[in-house]
Amino acid sequence: MRRRDVLIGAGAGALALAGGAATYVSTATPDYARAVAPLRRPRAARGPRDLEYLVQYARLAANGHNTQPWTFAETPGGVAIRPDLSRATPVVDPDDHHLYVSLGCAAENLLLAASAAGAAGALSFEAEGEGRLLVDVAEADPVRSDLFDAILLRQSTRSDYAGGAVPAATLAALENASAMGGCDIALLTAKPELTQLEELIVAANDRQVANPAFVKELAQWMRFNPRSAIASGDGLYTGSTGNPRLPSWLGRALFPHVFTPDAEREKIIGQVRSTSGFAIFFADRSDPAHWVQVGRSFERFALKATALGLRLALLNQPVEEPAFRADLAALAGATGKRPDLVVRFGHAAPLPMSFRRPIADVVLPA
Ligand SMILES: Cc1cc2nc3c(=O)[nH]c(=O)nc-3n(C[C@H](O)[C@H](O)[C@H](O)COP(=O)(O)O)c2cc1C
Repeated sequence: MRRRDVLIGAGAGALALAGGAATYVSTATPDYARAVAPLRRPRAARGPRDLEYLVQYARLAANGHNTQPWTFAETPGGVAIRPDLSRATPVVDPDDHHLYVSLGCAAENLLLAASAAGAAGALSFEAEGEGRLLVDVAEADPVRSDLFDAILLRQSTRSDYAGGAVPAATLAALENASAMGGCDIALLTAKPELTQLEELIVAANDRQVANPAFVKELAQWMRFNPRSAIASGDGLYTGSTGNPRLPSWLGRALFPHVFTPDAEREKIIGQVRSTSGFAIFFADRSDPAHWVQVGRSFERFALKATALGLRLALLNQPVEEPAFRADLAALAGATGKRPDLVVRFGHAAPLPMSFRRPIADVVLPA
């Protein structure tokens, strides 16, 4: 087993156990690659308001802990996207910030899919109650963009990257693609900035890993083997993060022992030092409507990066731990603002794709 393959780092005893168990399970597990592939097959629209087609693309969006905290329903004008608060993660995300960002990611995919099918979509946010996103759909000429084509290929790639600088023209293309009303990004690529950022991520991560409630919540969303990832259709499959497969009972038992500050620190340092650059996202205001805009902007950034052959992932620890937000904002030249996302990008090989729940599970009656 390679060093990086350890379940987020582990002591020798746990490692030996994990290695043995990984071998044991691999003889009896379903073929993950075969099961996950249909999720990313292109689907043709039966018309500009084909809800199944739209949701097929929307559900592939980035979302915190892969909880997929959304439902979709047909409306007289188009589609409503609602939060599914039963899928909130109150420890890491007490004000549902990530949840609304995730809804924005899904909405952006849906809008791109609508455009490709010959429908111009307009998004509005209704703040009442839990809030909902309304996408009005009107027939238009189809627009098939490189961002739409990248939806099936985008993933969070949490491995070490290959290092090296990203050309200025590529950075400009990422900035242009992610331009969105109500939010902004700051790109960090200079070594001294990245060193300071690494310190912030590590310090915030130390705090998270020392919080038993955080570890417990994260463990609930871990899927330690293909069978559990496929059965639930959600969560963080260890194979998608380059970690070994374990029986669920063993993974859950080992997780608090292998998810340690030392192991995580080492992993983060490897990731940051091999990363070409970071994008920090900032909303103009801290409310769900603006967090949705951040999600749309981030999804477009991620799709453009994918279209340009880059990989990306999030290291959101200094956003999630409030004590580190002010330093992060200052580092990114946005003193006084609340940072929303910390995204790293660079070159790397793909990892297995994450799973999604069936379309029927997330589509509600109109
Ligand atoms: C608001 C938000 C916060 C996230 N935070 C993190 C994070 O801190 N660390 C991480 O590895 N991934 C993070 N992710 C990525 C999700 O875990 C990922 O999108 C999800 O597991 C689905 O996988 P995919 O992006 O490969 O489709 C975040 C995504 C969103 C939208």
